[in-house]
Amino acid sequence: MTLDLAIVVPVFNERGNVPLLVAALDTALAGFAWEAIFVDDDSPDGTADVVREIARSDPRIRVLQRIGRRGLSTACIEGMCATAAPLVAVIDGDLQHDEALLPRMAAALAGDRAIDLVIGSRFVDGGGTGAWDADRVAKSALATRLSRRVLKADLSDPMSGFFMIRSDVVRGVAPRLLGIGFKILLDILTAAPVPLRFVELPYVFRTRAVGESKLDHVVALEYLIALYDRMFGRVVPVRFVMFSAIGAAGAIVHLAALGLFLELGGGFVMATIVATMVAMTFNFFLNNHLTYRDRRLRGVRALVNGWLSFCAVCSVGAVANVGLAAFLYDVRGGAWALPALAGIAVGAVWNFALSSRFTWGRYGRRAT
Ligand code: GDD
Ligand code: MN
Repeated sequence: MTLDLAIVVPVFNERGNVPLLVAALDTALAGFAWEAIFVDDDSPDGTADVVREIARSDPRIRVLQRIGRRGLSTACIEGMCATAAPLVAVIDGDLQHDEALLPRMAAALAGDRAIDLVIGSRFVDGGGTGAWDADRVAKSALATRLSRRVLKADLSDPMSGFFMIRSDVVRGVAPRLLGIGFKILLDILTAAPVPLRFVELPYVFRTRAVGESKLDHVVALEYLIALYDRMFGRVVPVRFVMFSAIGAAGAIVHLAALGLFLELGGGFVMATIVATMVAMTFNFFLNNHLTYRDRRLRGVRALVNGWLSFCAVCSVGAVANVGLAAFLYDVRGGAWALPALAGIAVGAVWNFALSSRFTWGRYGRRAT
């Protein structure tokens, strides 16, 4: 039989769900020639081993284990590009999506060449969000409204993580995908140079029985970042915006620390040195946590090395800042606000450019 369909399943700490999902797919996809690709980010609970165990006796099951990486969107992208099947679906690994919809998704694509994509929707007639509380419903509705700003298409559930698409279409848009956060479908829809033709089929979002959700505040922030990136990212890169915002918070930390040490009776120079170290450390950890979440340095060694290189980079930025500010101050004969701001801006660009390369870039990363 020739391969019809690939099911891509992003998984992180889902060992309890893997056998259940394989059994559910086996039932739902009777009559299809299918394969399932579990894309695991080296889950500490050993999810990949559970998949391999099943795959030894069932060649339809495959595992893509990524090392030192995290991210739902990139996991889906890499999974979708790893199959020879003409159709590929993405489904959560925690059984919250209804796999019984898959044959109808495939039928819709087989029946009409003009359709690129079938989306499982919770918000068309017959769909639903199941046991969601009011808070989650409100947050999801807000995210959906925001997405309308980048999305021209009129679809009911752009947040859905459950869909089936022609695999050549995915490969076509793959180079343009952002791969940030959770919203892979939105990413695909906004990356396509010509609008994709889609249909929506209803399903009811199930309650998770095993394991826990990975959707947290950082994921919500990543969503806003992705929207920003689609709107303005070409003008000012999103990482730079985050880096600068964290830098501004760092300036406040610096002033607070300075005030505290002066209060404790320290001399100004000593207090400034301490405040600078505190602010740099604050910036380093926050950037490591947020701006460079996808390349986060982990472990004592990587963190110490990263912190050292970040401090070194910041001193270069500081020299650029002071140098430019002093120069402009001279030229402008005593007006201080503009030279100071220009110095800060240039220092920030330097810090950003150097740290993205040396602290979190290829040179900063150590093989683990
Ligand atoms: N490989 C990998 N890497 N998989 C991940 C990661 C990651 O960093 N984060 C989450 N996953 C996997 C989970 O193991 C699960 O199989 C699936 O992605 C969805 O993650 P959940 O943590 O269960 O998310 P959720 O249920 O809160 O949100 C889901 O439903 C939303 C509404 O439909 C996701 O599908 C969202 O994309 C969707 O918008
Ligand atoms: Mn889930």
